[in-house]
Amino acid sequence: MIGFLGAAWLWVKAAHIIFVIFWMAGLFMLPRFFVYHQESVAGSSEDARWIERETRLIRIILNPSMIIVWLLGLALALNIGAFSQGWFHAKLLFVLALSGYHGWMSGYAKKLARGEQPLADRKLRMLNEVPGAAAAVIVILAVVRPF
Ligand code: HEM
Repeated sequence: MIGFLGAAWLWVKAAHIIFVIFWMAGLFMLPRFFVYHQESVAGSSEDARWIERETRLIRIILNPSMIIVWLLGLALALNIGAFSQGWFHAKLLFVLALSGYHGWMSGYAKKLARGEQPLADRKLRMLNEVPGAAAAVIVILAVVRPF
């Protein structure tokens, strides 16, 4: 397929998938961190170490990966004219939901840093299933393109 990306197309697609992996890895790790973090005493040195780990994971891995996935994904979409295709509309919906989950998780990290613990461990562990399920649907939509 020759779009505006030309010979760079497959390289851009490979980079898209590489940063998807980084983004997903971060999304799987963060709620795990929260579960361990919530076991520490507020204000303790362990609490401070978890806050530092979460902040770094969000700043260094999660936020840059999400931005790069979006930029490369939108470039790929323009390149192949995906904006008129059904699978892409459905994929966008799930990717938006995943980005919302990302934002919500970042907000949760801020609450934990303030000493709040809004969710029980069991709920956090259940929420951990969200990115996996969303990723499965997104990959099927992108690869199989059923409609
Ligand atoms: C953030 C917004 C995203 C946009 C705008 C986007 C857009 C796209 C587009 C248009 C393609 C087709 C590229 C082509 O064939 O030239 C593609 C491929 C792909 N995307 Fe995304 N994507 C996004 C996020 C994601 C996420 C979160 C995942 C996985 C969880 C994902 C997984 C894939 C995979 C596996 C392919 C390769 C499909 C194939 O060539 O068979 N994408 N993406």
